[in-house]
Amino acid sequence: MKLKGKTALITGSARGLGKAIALKLAEMGANIVLNDIVSSESLDETYKEFREAGYNVAVARGDVTKEEDVKNMVKAAVDKFGALHILVNNAGITRDKPMLLMSEEDWDLVLNVNLKGAFLCSKAAAKVMIKQRYGKIINISSVAGAYGNPGQANYSASKAGLIGLTKTIAKELASRGIRCNAVTPGIIKSQMTDVLPEELKKKYLDNIALGVFGTPEDVAGVVAFLASPDSDYVTGQVIDIDGGLVM
Ligand SMILES: NC(=O)c1ccc[n+]([C@@H]2O[C@H](COP(=O)([O-])OP(=O)(O)OC[C@H]3O[C@@H](n4cnc5c(N)ncnc54)[C@H](O)[C@@H]3O)[C@@H](O)[C@H]2O)c1
Repeated sequence: MKLKGKTALITGSARGLGKAIALKLAEMGANIVLNDIVSSESLDETYKEFREAGYNVAVARGDVTKEEDVKNMVKAAVDKFGALHILVNNAGITRDKPMLLMSEEDWDLVLNVNLKGAFLCSKAAAKVMIKQRYGKIINISSVAGAYGNPGQANYSASKAGLIGLTKTIAKELASRGIRCNAVTPGIIKSQMTDVLPEELKKKYLDNIALGVFGTPEDVAGVVAFLASPDSDYVTGQVIDIDGGLVM
């Protein structure tokens, strides 16, 4: 129960990696604030699951690209649990296409959700964390951001941007007791990757040293370490969670 008494807001946590991260932090004793977009159908179901499991949980629906929504999400966490110690910037989308065919609209959409969203959430959460003189911000980047990936100019740029944001927050806010780190998952089984063509999945598998795709729980384990006091002397770091896809 290393996170007992701590409150964590996880964006985009109705399903997939975000849900697995929320579950892991709840198992470690944290109060959980679930977030997803207003139209998310699975958010209520996820909230119910957490309630039934006996976890301390609240819901803060909102779009991470809208500053007003983000402020309300952070306020909801503080109103319900009195503090906010952990922010996981997990909400993310893809709109894949070769760069030459990519529309400006798809570029803006992906950059807005994946990068601007993390900026807005980090800014709002940091204001609370500074007063507490303690906070952990964890950004879910991607190997595509660290190493590039054909068909993902917008996504790779957004995830690379997250790495720059991570290091800058780490440097700006270390003196206020705030740690900021990123993880770069490789291919993780989820609704986002289920839709990849079989041919591409096989190509990835051939290059993963451990020979299997990761699970949301694999990502949650590393995020939990970064959220816990075990990593209090770690900031500004980027950890690959990819089974040895890139090394
Ligand atoms: N699945 C993978 O293989 C993989 C690999 C590397 C990184 N990632 C990253 O992990 C994160 C989660 O991915 P996933 O596979 O669970 O995807 P997912 O699509 O299953 O879940 C993403 C969630 O974010 C929510 N979301 C989207 N836009 C939002 C917004 N504007 N505001 C609030 N919530 C919003 C969605 O509704 C969804 O519930 C993403 O940032 C993704 O880029 C995933």
